[in-house]
Amino acid sequence: MHKIFAKPLFLGKKVIFLTECHSTNDEMSSLQKNEDFLEGLVVYTDHQKKGKGQRGNVWLDEPGKNILMSVLLKPDFLRVPEQYLLNVVVGLSVIKSLARHLDEKTLKLKWPNDVLVGTRKICGILVENALYGDRLENSTVGIGVNLNQRAFSLPTATSMVMETDIEFDRDNFIEELLVDLEFFLLKLKNGQKSLLLQLYHEKLYRKGITSTFRDKDGDFEAVILGIDNSGKLIVSRGASFRNYQVKEIEFLE
Ligand code: BTN
Repeated sequence: MHKIFAKPLFLGKKVIFLTECHSTNDEMSSLQKNEDFLEGLVVYTDHQKKGKGQRGNVWLDEPGKNILMSVLLKPDFLRVPEQYLLNVVVGLSVIKSLARHLDEKTLKLKWPNDVLVGTRKICGILVENALYGDRLENSTVGIGVNLNQRAFSLPTATSMVMETDIEFDRDNFIEELLVDLEFFLLKLKNGQKSLLLQLYHEKLYRKGITSTFRDKDGDFEAVILGIDNSGKLIVSRGASFRNYQVKEIEFLE
């Protein structure tokens, strides 16, 4: 067990810190098998040996440098088709936190929820949901923020220290992030879905701009229009429109 985070109201009141683990998301699901934890449990680590990304990708880290954490939510007020709203909320929360230190205008959400500074990725989000009937029972919100790591194998990655030349205190950053996550979660609980979607669309990377994509039929140029009411990406190709799920389309630039 670790110190609790004082500033948030209900997140981070129980905290588990691990010097290393396979994946904080996987740790969270094994913990859930043995004990029914309350909403807000935070698991974080110095290093993941099998960090998980979206689409089955790996999430790599330099030990001790970054935020690698999972937060347990119990969004039983959401129906299964609304689960994408958690991605919306988490993405907006990370932007709010980053904007405490970076120019907000440079921060974008690349669908579904990569967080970019300009064109470079600073944060990845992996939300894994456990369903109960047509509702969400538990959600493990995995967040990886590149904080104090100065070099990456991918040229498209960046970090807070690379953007500012300032080293950040990880616990303070997590604490503020939990405050921001609560802020947007409460909006979702209070039924402010259209406001959240409006904010998400304002931050959507390359919205309205022609970009190159790949789907099962090959590469094509299209314009992102936004997301639909199940979280799919809507793109237009000339006069035709199509809605894609995450695994059906790849963004090439
Ligand atoms: C992505 O952009 O592909 C998502 C990356 C998510 C990484 C975080 S780090 C903490 C949590 N535990 C994991 O194994 N993955 C998420």
